[in-house]
Amino acid sequence: MSDLPVITQQQLALRNGQDKPEIWIAWQGKVYDVTHSRLWRNGKHYEHWAGQDLTAELPDAPHTDYVFEKLKQVGVLQAE
Ligand code: HEM
Repeated sequence: MSDLPVITQQQLALRNGQDKPEIWIAWQGKVYDVTHSRLWRNGKHYEHWAGQDLTAELPDAPHTDYVFEKLKQVGVLQAE
Protein backbone atom coordinates (compact mmCIF):
# COMPACT_ATOMS: atom_id res chain seq x y z
CA MET A 1 0.00 0.00 0.00
CA SER A 2 1.58 3.34 -1.10
CA ASP A 3 1.79 5.96 1.65
CA LEU A 4 1.42 8.66 -0.97
CA PRO A 5 -1.81 10.68 -0.84
CA VAL A 6 -4.81 9.80 -3.03
CA ILE A 7 -5.41 12.70 -5.45
CA THR A 8 -8.86 13.32 -6.90
CA GLN A 9 -9.49 14.18 -10.55
CA GLN A 10 -10.55 17.67 -9.38
CA GLN A 11 -7.33 18.24 -7.43
CA LEU A 12 -5.35 17.13 -10.49
CA ALA A 13 -7.40 19.32 -12.84
CA LEU A 14 -6.56 22.43 -10.78
CA ARG A 15 -2.82 21.73 -11.24
CA ASN A 16 -3.07 22.47 -14.96
CA GLY A 17 -0.48 25.26 -15.03
CA GLN A 18 -3.15 27.96 -14.79
CA ASP A 19 -5.12 27.65 -11.55
CA LYS A 20 -2.55 26.59 -8.94
CA PRO A 21 1.23 27.07 -8.57
CA GLU A 22 1.93 23.32 -8.87
CA ILE A 23 1.78 21.57 -12.25
CA TRP A 24 0.86 17.86 -12.18
CA ILE A 25 0.29 15.14 -14.74
CA ALA A 26 -1.02 11.61 -14.23
CA TRP A 27 0.24 8.49 -15.92
CA GLN A 28 -0.82 4.87 -15.19
CA GLY A 29 -2.55 5.88 -11.93
CA LYS A 30 0.42 7.85 -10.59
CA VAL A 31 0.53 11.63 -10.25
CA TYR A 32 3.82 13.35 -11.07
CA ASP A 33 5.09 16.88 -10.38
CA VAL A 34 6.35 18.74 -13.48
CA THR A 35 6.17 22.22 -11.87
CA HIS A 36 9.90 22.80 -12.44
CA SER A 37 10.12 21.23 -15.91
CA ARG A 38 10.97 23.71 -18.64
CA LEU A 39 9.16 21.29 -20.97
CA TRP A 40 5.85 21.76 -19.12
CA ARG A 41 5.86 25.53 -18.71
CA ASN A 42 2.33 26.89 -18.04
CA GLY A 43 1.13 23.31 -18.14
CA LYS A 44 1.68 22.87 -21.90
CA HIS A 45 3.93 20.20 -23.45
CA TYR A 46 3.69 20.34 -27.23
CA GLU A 47 -0.04 19.77 -27.80
CA HIS A 48 -0.53 18.06 -24.44
CA TRP A 49 -1.83 19.71 -21.28
CA ALA A 50 -1.15 19.08 -17.60
CA GLY A 51 -3.88 18.66 -15.00
CA GLN A 52 -5.13 15.40 -16.49
CA ASP A 53 -4.45 11.69 -16.98
CA LEU A 54 -2.18 11.43 -20.03
CA THR A 55 -1.84 7.63 -20.07
CA ALA A 56 -3.71 7.33 -23.38
CA GLU A 57 -1.63 10.11 -24.97
CA LEU A 58 1.89 8.73 -24.34
CA PRO A 59 1.82 6.69 -27.59
CA ASP A 60 1.80 10.08 -29.41
CA ALA A 61 5.17 10.95 -27.87
CA PRO A 62 8.51 10.51 -29.66
CA HIS A 63 9.89 9.25 -26.33
CA THR A 64 9.05 6.29 -24.11
CA ASP A 65 7.99 6.29 -20.46
CA TYR A 66 11.62 6.61 -19.25
CA VAL A 67 10.82 10.34 -18.86
CA PHE A 68 8.84 9.53 -15.70
CA GLU A 69 11.81 7.88 -13.96
CA LYS A 70 13.40 11.14 -12.86
CA LEU A 71 10.12 12.83 -11.86
CA LYS A 72 8.81 13.06 -8.32
CA GLN A 73 5.58 11.11 -7.74
CA VAL A 74 3.29 13.19 -5.52
CA GLY A 75 0.37 10.81 -5.18
CA VAL A 76 -1.87 8.16 -6.63
CA LEU A 77 -4.84 9.11 -8.79
CA GLN A 78 -8.25 8.31 -7.38
CA ALA A 79 -10.05 5.97 -9.76
CA GLU A 80 -13.10 7.57 -11.41
C1 HEM B 1 3.91 15.47 -29.57
C2 HEM B 1 4.13 14.80 -28.52
C3 HEM B 1 5.37 14.95 -27.64
C4 HEM B 1 6.60 15.46 -27.93
C5 HEM B 1 7.10 16.05 -29.24
C6 HEM B 1 7.41 15.31 -26.72
C7 HEM B 1 8.73 15.69 -26.62
C8 HEM B 1 9.49 15.60 -25.46
C9 HEM B 1 10.91 15.86 -25.37
C10 HEM B 1 11.82 16.28 -26.54
C11 HEM B 1 11.29 15.66 -24.08
C12 HEM B 1 12.71 15.73 -23.49
C13 HEM B 1 13.19 14.30 -23.48
C14 HEM B 1 14.48 14.14 -22.73
O1 HEM B 1 14.72 14.86 -21.76
O2 HEM B 1 15.19 13.23 -23.14
C15 HEM B 1 10.10 15.29 -23.36
C16 HEM B 1 10.07 15.07 -22.01
C17 HEM B 1 8.94 14.67 -21.34
N1 HEM B 1 7.73 14.32 -21.91
FE1 HEM B 1 7.19 14.53 -23.80
N2 HEM B 1 6.65 14.76 -25.73
C18 HEM B 1 5.42 14.51 -26.25
C19 HEM B 1 4.35 13.94 -25.62
C20 HEM B 1 4.33 13.61 -24.29
C21 HEM B 1 3.19 13.02 -23.60
C22 HEM B 1 1.85 12.65 -24.23
C23 HEM B 1 3.55 12.89 -22.28
C24 HEM B 1 2.77 12.34 -21.11
C25 HEM B 1 2.13 11.19 -21.14
C26 HEM B 1 4.92 13.40 -22.16
C27 HEM B 1 5.63 13.46 -20.99
C28 HEM B 1 6.91 13.94 -20.88
C29 HEM B 1 7.60 14.06 -19.60
C30 HEM B 1 7.05 13.74 -18.23
C31 HEM B 1 8.88 14.53 -19.89
C32 HEM B 1 10.03 14.82 -18.88
C33 HEM B 1 10.03 16.28 -18.55
C34 HEM B 1 11.25 16.67 -17.70
O3 HEM B 1 11.95 15.79 -17.22
O4 HEM B 1 11.46 17.88 -17.52
N3 HEM B 1 5.37 13.81 -23.41
N4 HEM B 1 9.03 15.26 -24.22
